[in-house]
Formats: sequence, C-alpha cells, structure tokens
Amino acid sequence: MTDPPAPCQGDGVDLVDLWPPAGLRVQWDDLELRFLDDDLLLRVAELAGEGVHADDRMPFMTPWTRGTPDEVARGLLRYQWAARAQVEPDDWKLELAVLVGGEVVGVQGAFATRYPVTRSAETGSWLGVRFHSLGIGTRMRLAMLHLLFDGLGAHEATTGAFSDNAASLAVTRKLGYLASGRRRVAREGAVAESLSFAMSVEQWQARPASQRPPVTVTGAEAVAEMLGVA
Ligand SMILES: CC(C)(COP(=O)(O)OP(=O)(O)OC[C@H]1O[C@@H](n2cnc3c(N)ncnc32)[C@H](O)[C@@H]1OP(=O)(O)O)[C@@H](O)C(=O)NCCC(=O)NCCS
Repeated sequence: MTDPPAPCQGDGVDLVDLWPPAGLRVQWDDLELRFLDDDLLLRVAELAGEGVHADDRMPFMTPWTRGTPDEVARGLLRYQWAARAQVEPDDWKLELAVLVGGEVVGVQGAFATRYPVTRSAETGSWLGVRFHSLGIGTRMRLAMLHLLFDGLGAHEATTGAFSDNAASLAVTRKLGYLASGRRRVAREGAVAESLSFAMSVEQWQARPASQRPPVTVTGAEAVAEMLGVA
C-alpha cells in the first residue's frame, strides 16, 4: 500500500490541524478510505466518467451519472468540492476516496444533519463499474460503519436503495441492517420504490465475528470534535 502524500503545510499552519477531515484514514488490509484531496478527486472524477453502472439502470436519486464522461466528471468535481466544505455539526458530509492496493476504485460517503442531537448518519457509495461484484462494496461499507460507530460516536447508521438495486441491497442485508421503510419516488420521470434501512449501535456492538475485521481508524477524534460530539 502506498503512503498518502504529506498533508499541505503553510508557514506553521497544518491543513489537518485546521481541517481535521483531511487527516481521516480508515484502513483494512489493502482497502483504505481517505480524504478526497484534489489529486484523488481527479482520479475519482476520471473513474466516474468511465462508468458507474449499466446505462439502463439508475441507482441514484439524483441522476449524476448521465452525460458524457467529461460532463459526469465535471459534475462530480462540482459536487465533491461543495461536499468537502460542508463539515459543520448541524450539516455534514464526509466523502472518502476508496482505494484498494493504492488504486482508486470509488467513493464511500456519510452524511448527517443535526448530528449532535440525532447521532444518526446516512451512508452512500459507488464503485467504478469494473470494480463491482468483487466484495469491495461490502468491505467499504463496513469500514465506514467502523468510522461512524467507533470513531464518531454514532448511535445509528442508515442507508437506502431502490428496490431494483440488488447489489446495494445485498450489501445492506449481509451487514445486518433492519428494514425501516419504503416509499414511492420519481426516478427519471417514472415511479420507483425506495427502501430504507437502519442499524443501531447496539446491533453494531452485537455483530458477528465475521464482521469484526482488523479495521484501523485514524484522525477521527479531531473530526468528532469538529462535529460537536467529542
Ligand atoms: C452497490 C455497490 C457499491 C456494491 O458494491 P459491490 O462491490 O458490487 O458489492 P459486493 O461485491 O460487496 O456485494 C454485492 C452483493 O450483491 C450480490 N448481487 C450483485 N448483483 C446481484 C443481482 N443482480 N441479484 C442478486 N444479488 C446480486 C452479490 O452476489 C453480492 O452478494 P454476496 O457477496 O452475498 O454474493 C456497487 O455495485 C456499485 O457501485 N453500484 C453502482 C452504484 C450504486 O448502486 N451505489 C449505491 C446506491 S444506493
């Protein structure tokens, strides 16, 4: 695994000190979740432009994967730059690059509003299409659950998927979430069914041995402080 580049330093100012999410790192063997700096962001944008799913599918509420490779990549940059700045206790997004053996394969995110009160965060993720069905989606979600429950003091993690997204639903069920609802939504002009799921911290703590891999979380304490939950 390659070491991350040294964080930016100004004259006596360290980016990680000023902006703790820049120091976040979750590692599990060859899999790593890492802050999306501009270098990683460019690689992620290129990957998204190469395709995230088959053309006749739409796994996202906002169909950001439609368009030419450049349009998709540019839309991703726009979204991720805004997300990177959105880290406040009452409304935060943590979008982390997913690397396997140093190669960028996708993004694993978590989002929350009023987190100091609710301690509930929603996850969302995607992989470049050539990295699907290799077990990476399950591993990166589990890595993010480690960050949320063990690093950021979450009491609940939620997730959702359309009822025709078999891979995402399989990951959710494998990890032991409980179904928490379903609703009809408009997706690209047609009705679709959106399913939601939740996992409590009690479920997390009671998870089976198969879901207790050697995951290391770095830099979460300072992020928890920034999010008002230290
Ligand atoms: C969803 C996603 C992140 C899952 O990652 P992944 O690496 O493909 O998932 P995994 O390989 O870890 O697990 C997928 C599971 O789905 C199952 N699966 C995949 N396609 C399936 C299908 N058509 N029917 C039934 N099961 C299916 C696999 O068998 C596997 O389960 P198993 O390990 O019990 O065999 C990835 O597929 C992806 O990026 N999809 C496009 C974007 C997306 O849907 N994002 C989520 C939006 S909610």
